[in-house]
Amino acid sequence: MKITSAEFVMSNSNVAKCPNEPLPEYAFIGRSNVGKSSLINMLMERKSLAKTSGRPGKTQLINHFKVNENWFLVDLPGYGYARVSKKDKKVFQKYITEYFEKREQLVSAFVLVDIRHDPQPVDLEFMEWLGTNGIPFAIIFTKADKLKPAVVEKQAQTYLQKLLDGVWEEAPPHFITSSSNRAGRIELLGYIDAINKE
Ligand code: GTP
Ligand code: MG
Repeated sequence: MKITSAEFVMSNSNVAKCPNEPLPEYAFIGRSNVGKSSLINMLMERKSLAKTSGRPGKTQLINHFKVNENWFLVDLPGYGYARVSKKDKKVFQKYITEYFEKREQLVSAFVLVDIRHDPQPVDLEFMEWLGTNGIPFAIIFTKADKLKPAVVEKQAQTYLQKLLDGVWEEAPPHFITSSSNRAGRIELLGYIDAINKE
């Protein structure tokens, strides 16, 4: 898929106020600092469409971006970061939960995990919650540039095997990406394109 346009549409914390156009939508979620906003910029070939930061907790609202005038990409706040106050965290959780439960346009979530790390309880819990709620998702491994190329695929397979050893009977689709060297861009956009054309 060639990106011909990518525009920021709105930020909000209320799912009822999200854009009401009936376009297919894909949401990027994962722990704080995993690289959600960076990945969105990499996919869209735009330096700072989505705001990024070395400090976890940068993205704090539901952010809609319209792509090629025919689908939405959504940047969500990270979960599982302790430095956000407890009260703020609860509010996040409520509107993120509401977003996933109520957003009819949502086609798939992308759960981002850092390729260097073993499955974290908060990620496993979140994936289970998506499964329980019947929300399709794929896993995006981020920051692949931080590992030696020879071990990247093995690390991903080890991660997926741990899901199969847990509650999952089938491994979800997965993508290995790096916002630094653009790995995975064509595959991920191709995946979205194929679903949009179904
Ligand atoms: P929150 O909005 O805070 O939840 O974070 P986020 O998941 O949106 O992460 P963000 O894109 O802001 O990136 C966090 C940090 O990781 C930044 O310092 C990025 O430069 C760095 N980063 C993101 N992706 C990559 C990557 O693929 N490779 C490397 N080396 N660094 C990355
Ligand atoms: Mg962010």
